[in-house]
Amino acid sequence: MSAGFLGFMTEGISTALAFRHLEGGPRVRAIQRHGWVQVASTVCIALGFLVIYTNKANNGKQHFTSLHGKVGNINTWLAVATPVGGIFSFRKLGLITCLPEPWHPFIKWLHRCLGLLTWMLALVTVQLVLPHKAIMQVGRIW
Ligand code: HEM
Repeated sequence: MSAGFLGFMTEGISTALAFRHLEGGPRVRAIQRHGWVQVASTVCIALGFLVIYTNKANNGKQHFTSLHGKVGNINTWLAVATPVGGIFSFRKLGLITCLPEPWHPFIKWLHRCLGLLTWMLALVTVQLVLPHKAIMQVGRIW
């Protein structure tokens, strides 16, 4: 999940900031790059979630009990909702035309806000797990 949130998502947001002032073809290509990097981030996050969820289930443990688990759960749903908003925001894919024209600026604004919120919340989620005994053990090895 860290590779998805801290690696690919950070890189994907950098590419989004870089296309702010682009127009035409270069903007479309930059958005495509942003989209693919964010798809990689979502795949990593989904796989990480699946691994931790299955591991807990196999060991008969409860889900989402710690603060890290609760905030991480919200963070994971945000990481699913954000790319959906991005897919709607990318005019080349045509999905946005299914929605009323006056909504378009709002959809794009929502995608930008959700993107930043998801990434910033991920930084908090990572901090919340640092006192966990499994992380402390790794610290002792090093
Ligand atoms: C977790 C996944 C994603 C995150 C965190 C994310 C984040 C962001 C952020 C922060 C911006 C705003 C950059 C700025 O301030 O100008 C942005 C813009 C944009 N993103 Fe994403 N994005 C994600 C996935 C996607 C996907 C899958 C697509 C599909 C191609 C996409 C398409 C776009 C488009 C078209 C814009 C420009 C919107 C506008 O014109 O205002 N995004 N994204």
